[in-house]
Amino acid sequence: MTNIEIVSAAPQERRAIACMQYALNAIVAHLKIVLRIFFRGDAFAAHSSSRWRPDAQIQASIMLAVLAGVLSMLTGCRDFSLDAKPDGDIAPQHLFMFTSLHASAPATGVTAMRVNLGRRIFYDPHFSKNDSISCNSCHQLAKYGIDPGRPVSLGHDHHPGDRNSPTVYNAGLQFAQFWDGRAANLAAQASGPMMNPVEMGMSGPDVVLAYIHSRPDYVRQFKEAYSDQKDPVVMENVTDAIAAFEGGLLTPARWDKYLEGDVNALSDQEKQGLRVYLRSGCAACHAGMDMGGNSYQKLGVYRNWPDQQTDPGRLTLTHQARDRMYFKVPTLRNVEQTGPWFHNGHVQTLEEAVWLMGKYEAGHKLSTADVNAIVSFLHALTGDIPQQYIQPPADEAPPSKVAANHNGQWQNIHHITQPSSQEGQ
Ligand code: HEC
Ligand code: HEC
Repeated sequence: MTNIEIVSAAPQERRAIACMQYALNAIVAHLKIVLRIFFRGDAFAAHSSSRWRPDAQIQASIMLAVLAGVLSMLTGCRDFSLDAKPDGDIAPQHLFMFTSLHASAPATGVTAMRVNLGRRIFYDPHFSKNDSISCNSCHQLAKYGIDPGRPVSLGHDHHPGDRNSPTVYNAGLQFAQFWDGRAANLAAQASGPMMNPVEMGMSGPDVVLAYIHSRPDYVRQFKEAYSDQKDPVVMENVTDAIAAFEGGLLTPARWDKYLEGDVNALSDQEKQGLRVYLRSGCAACHAGMDMGGNSYQKLGVYRNWPDQQTDPGRLTLTHQARDRMYFKVPTLRNVEQTGPWFHNGHVQTLEEAVWLMGKYEAGHKLSTADVNAIVSFLHALTGDIPQQYIQPPADEAPPSKVAANHNGQWQNIHHITQPSSQEGQ
């Protein structure tokens, strides 16, 4: 292990200087991005009267906290051994801007019933207009929760959507849902797709609830899972159950072992990638437990993103000019598995995605070696799919024929008791 030899042979001063240099680089990279985010021209143009927006202040404090963290690297310089290029360890205790993830404990009691119900709904295509699409069609749990290979998903009747399906794994860790954050949490998100005309295309909650009422086994499951309620077949419980299930879709990875002190959990190349990741300032936006999912940022911090027209991000939601091209920073967990990348799925390789991030978000033209190093680090963020947890329910049965009319819409026939041949098992 030549590097260890180099480290131990290196005079103390050389190590300290190398460490300072590294820490300074990291600080400058973060500072530059932070300053860029706050003092970029268009924020003033839209708000010439005031520099500080309330949300910018919150953002500022988060960024300053990150910065303070980076600064504290300096204090830890002595045992930082960053000069041990290319494969020295970064002492995990210095990676304060990240938090490790654990799989959730198996649910019990009422929670388990809700999780089971949510899992069943997630896989059930009858929550779509033509009985053809389930949540799992666009968020395939066996394929890291995405719609593999498709830049944008096709909804019922093959209607194309306009955004890439983000992964549902670890989604609950994010501060908001959707690329533009228009839903506050998983439950708020879950009713959206069913009624979205280009996703599952149900005409309204009545149709969803009528379908559930047409299935005595479903009604029974709702009654068990929400036994404290008089009429448990309500939309809030549908979304609550889905959220309960999605909450368990967590994928701890080797990265988490590393954060917890197992320095052998990452290969030398991955460690080198981590170093480039930190040095390039990626952690200014992609940090925390989910390596993202905790702020909105402008796509195009250093220079205008080439496509300003097709999808202006949060602008569509808030109608505020200052929100043009702002998107939620996505999680980087499992990112090597969740391509094609970006909100419109236009980027086909992870290398290109990383290179574009360097150029537009972090202000570096990354070398091929740096891009490859970062990509190999991202590899360490790929966790195991919880195979047991995502097993589709075996008893998923086709719906009772009586309930559907010719348009595939579910009639409002509450209290239907006539079971179809497969039901009631
Ligand atoms: C036709 C494809 C399609 C179907 C069906 C679908 N989704 Fe999605 N889902 C998407 C797309 C596309 C987005 C991103 C939309 C956006 O950001 O504007 C998304 C976003 C999400 C998100 C937010 C993730 C994040 O990181 O922000 C969650 C959670 C989610 N869907 C869960 C579900 C659930 C639960 C269902 C079933 C009730 C479902 N989806 C059905 C395509 C689909
Ligand atoms: C200023 C904040 C910021 C910085 C710095 C930043 N990113 Fe991003 N990153 C984003 C945003 C915002 C998106 C979502 C872009 C979109 O709308 O498609 C994103 C998306 C990504 C994606 C695509 C994820 C997906 O699921 O499609 C990858 C990969 C990525 N970033 C990696 C990096 C790397 C590596 C670095 C450092 C070189 C970096 N980012 C620096 C804000 C940032």
